[in-house]
Amino acid sequence: MSKLSTRVIGWQRRAGRNDLPWQNTRDAYRIWLSEIMLQQTQVSAVVPYYERFLRKFPDVLALARADVDEVMKLWAGLGYYARARNLHRAAQHIADLHGGVFPAGIEAIRSLPGVGRSTAAAIAAFAFGTRAAILDGNVKRVFARHFGVDGDVKSKAVEERLWRIAEEQLPASGIERYSQGLMDLGATVCTRRQPACHACPLAKTCLALAQGRVESLPGRGAKRTVPHRQTRMLVIVSNGQVMLEKRPPTGVWGGLWSLPEVRLEDDVAVILKARFGIVAGSPAALERVEHGFTHYSLSIFPLRISVARKPNLAAEPGISWVTAGAAATAALPAPVKRIIALSWGA
Ligand code: ADE
Repeated sequence: MSKLSTRVIGWQRRAGRNDLPWQNTRDAYRIWLSEIMLQQTQVSAVVPYYERFLRKFPDVLALARADVDEVMKLWAGLGYYARARNLHRAAQHIADLHGGVFPAGIEAIRSLPGVGRSTAAAIAAFAFGTRAAILDGNVKRVFARHFGVDGDVKSKAVEERLWRIAEEQLPASGIERYSQGLMDLGATVCTRRQPACHACPLAKTCLALAQGRVESLPGRGAKRTVPHRQTRMLVIVSNGQVMLEKRPPTGVWGGLWSLPEVRLEDDVAVILKARFGIVAGSPAALERVEHGFTHYSLSIFPLRISVARKPNLAAEPGISWVTAGAAATAALPAPVKRIIALSWGA
């Protein structure tokens, strides 16, 4: 049986993904951008964002010079917004410390905000042909199954063992196709549920398959229970427009436009008067919307409030009014867009 890396490389050539928009280039900026967008986000969701982002910021200096609000706007809807803030900071770091040239050394790449060990290795491999090991969630699954590594993949011990395996399996040459092959295998064949073992180039040597443990590997730790929170969003509409409020720069959805929020127990009439000078008729409850963040889940209880005339908030820079059409294409978090769409349908 040929080496694991040889089989992965051969399979990638035959059956892997070779026409993604960030492939067939050595432009480190483009590769970096793609790897950041692909952290926690699927290829199909990333593609349109990636293309839009590059049209606006075609190189690292364009990104470094941009206003962070512009960057957030292009990220809106993709989630995990710290990625966008880190990307912008990293571009400024490259402009200041590397003269605007993307660094080629893996340590320099790793020191960029938002770039961890696996992402640095992927960028170095795809952009510079550097022989370095990747280990993202998909690749962990491939190795944990193939080598029958049990225990919680989130634990330090298992993580260290998988990194050792990843280093040991590196091919002498062909790092680009090998790294892409591992990612493709994890994303398309060695999937979390119902993996296509019959189509896997590693099936003959896969320990999990031989031992009937494919379903139970990689192992998970005790189920993490994330806290649950609740909030109320106000869909204040007047004359075909909805009121948006800009969120503070830090915290979830930092710096994005959103709907005004109040606590469930707040008296909405009192708040409307005090915060916005609005006296409104009776509000209508809209359908609850659920949203999952990494660290908590959120139930949003929206209220639709019609006001005959917009209050005079022209002096308020953190408030704006948009039509439903504009809201659909604006830089808003996905659940906020959904609520606005629901309220227009209602
Ligand atoms: N996920 C992370 N990096 C990727 C890449 N280069 N291609 C496809 N999916 C990925």
